[in-house]
Amino acid sequence: MSDSTRYLVTAALPYANGPLHIGHLAGCYLPADIFVRYLRVNRKDVKFVGGSDEHGVPITIRAMQEGKTPQEVVDHYHEILKNSLESMGISYDIYSRTSKPIHHKTSQDFFLNLYNKGLFEVKETEQYYDEVKNVFLADRYITGTCPICGNPNAYGDQCEKCGSSLSPDQLINPRSTLSDAVPVKRKTKHWYFPLQNYEAFLKEWIVDGHKDDWKNNVYGQCKSWLDNGLQSRAMTRDSNWGIKVPLPDAEDKVLYVWFDAPIGYISFTKELTEDWAKYWCDPNTKLYHFIGKDNIVFHCIIFPAMLKAHGDFVLPTNVPANEFLNIEGDKVSTSRNWAVWVDEYLKDFPGQQDVLRYVLCANAPETKDNDFTWKDFQERNNSELVANLGNFVNRTFVLMHKLCGGKVPPLHGDVATPEDQEMVNAFAETKKKVSENIEHFKFREALAEIMELARKGNKYMQDKEPWILARQVDANGKIEAEAQKKIDMCIHVCLQLCANLAILIYPFMPDTSKKMLKMMKVVQRMLFWENAGKAKLLSVGYSLRAPELLFRKIEDSEIEAQLEKLKSGSKKAEAPKEETSFPPLKSEISIDDFGKLDFRTGTILKAEKVEKADKLLKLEIDLGFEKRTILSGIAQHFKPEDIVGQRVVVVANLAPRKMRGIESNGMILMAENAEGQLYFVSPGEVVGNGFTVR
Ligand code: 2FM
Ligand code: ZN
Repeated sequence: MSDSTRYLVTAALPYANGPLHIGHLAGCYLPADIFVRYLRVNRKDVKFVGGSDEHGVPITIRAMQEGKTPQEVVDHYHEILKNSLESMGISYDIYSRTSKPIHHKTSQDFFLNLYNKGLFEVKETEQYYDEVKNVFLADRYITGTCPICGNPNAYGDQCEKCGSSLSPDQLINPRSTLSDAVPVKRKTKHWYFPLQNYEAFLKEWIVDGHKDDWKNNVYGQCKSWLDNGLQSRAMTRDSNWGIKVPLPDAEDKVLYVWFDAPIGYISFTKELTEDWAKYWCDPNTKLYHFIGKDNIVFHCIIFPAMLKAHGDFVLPTNVPANEFLNIEGDKVSTSRNWAVWVDEYLKDFPGQQDVLRYVLCANAPETKDNDFTWKDFQERNNSELVANLGNFVNRTFVLMHKLCGGKVPPLHGDVATPEDQEMVNAFAETKKKVSENIEHFKFREALAEIMELARKGNKYMQDKEPWILARQVDANGKIEAEAQKKIDMCIHVCLQLCANLAILIYPFMPDTSKKMLKMMKVVQRMLFWENAGKAKLLSVGYSLRAPELLFRKIEDSEIEAQLEKLKSGSKKAEAPKEETSFPPLKSEISIDDFGKLDFRTGTILKAEKVEKADKLLKLEIDLGFEKRTILSGIAQHFKPEDIVGQRVVVVANLAPRKMRGIESNGMILMAENAEGQLYFVSPGEVVGNGFTVR
């Protein structure tokens, strides 16, 4: 790492559509933070940027599910994400959000740069359209069976089971995510970015340039994309949520979320520093994108092609992507609530963010999917953190206070043994291995090396047995001189090892490292990496504080409670899927009873909220032969502006009823599923208004 180099590290922008779970942490936030902390203690010029991804279908779908506006959704989850990341010690220089005006402008300028060079293809194509909801169905708005692996719940942009990138047209039996309707095709115009024009550049850059330094999983995915051939990709969407396409003939079009989100890395650097161009436009920059494996294509193929087309920016040096972390043998599923939420972990294990950092790093899915289990979490805490690292530091400090007067004891060459030297040599050897591993994104191995050093420390102390030496006392009960020298020697080495451990674990467990600094009464400056490997970090005669317990044992009952929480939480969300409960049938009626009902087809012309009634919408319905006012209890399910134009079936001969001072003349038919979600019963597009329904 040469000194004029500047480093820019990014971590994938989490969608602000839900809280942070431990899979996110293990996937990219923790590795990015370890890498950044390592660069900082190596005195590198580094900036770590990130923020919430607030656009796209994941947000609008969540808004619909929660009966909120997209803005309410992103405001709520942005705060939760930001707090969770901060509490976990993810040390961003800036954590922003893609709703910021600076990001909108940067993205629009980027789009215009490509547009003005004539790099987009404008195409009018037929796309799937949901006639019930009146929206085009791109990305996650459409689901169907994956043509590659047969997963029946693949999205229009991606199959989460096999990781294939898809387009809606490839889905077998497509359905609208919004209404479950079978979609129809409608014409729409979009701006496509011809990725195929960048194939040669990408091949040269990735296949010829990064075969050896990118991780196998990343290189492999890129290679297969390139081998399969690239195609044009629409960079705009029909939606009213997102960044407006900055062209006059693009009303109701927004930028594709995967166009704007990675540009967020640039916008946030701009927001952070006036010197942003130093990090983005100068070849001395090394740019690293930390991501999860589902983001590889966007960061290694699409965004670099965009950067290349733009021309002003550097390309990533490396894109270290992790695989997925499963939970108790099952894939993380936010809809089934099969996840360990970071905000909840921090409530249940206050102040123990480093334990989670440790476990997630020790078991990181660096080369393949891995499994998080609560039992493993407990075992790693109890037998590695408590019994190995914590125990070594604690024993050293307790013995130093008991046998060396609370001060760093001197060295005595005359009692030195090869074991002392071996122990000291291990400091520098470990530092070398840890550095190499971190620089190659092998954080698990780096951490394992540090724990191995602590284990060696425990063994060294166990072999030296200072507590046995302390039994060699003279007539006054004073430890004999020779024995004291050996004790001093051992405790001196162990204390220097504690100082080394504090430096080495800092990128992984910063809070623990700081606790150790406090015990040693040394300042933060000691953490500079150049100090690791040294045997004289603590001066002889320096008095140190009493030990503070670094870790505590985690009890079986705590683990059982977590397992119970996971399972019961997940059942709650799963129940409606597993056994759909249908309400019992009402009592029988005669055909004459039925004949009394007059159902008519209609269209909603206007919809507005009713003051002081959170459930009611006032609708104006066109029944063909007349217009009616109908009050409907659907306000918590639909936004007024979304349902104008909706086709409906109305019970047209229901006696008028007054609610909140407004007369309601009829009722519209809705279908309700077991989860209480409402759907319009629609006569479809071809049937006119006022038709009878029998
Ligand atoms: O997959 C995701 O969660 C996306 N929100 C990641 C975006 S990363 C970037 F490009 F902004
Ligand atoms: Zn698939």
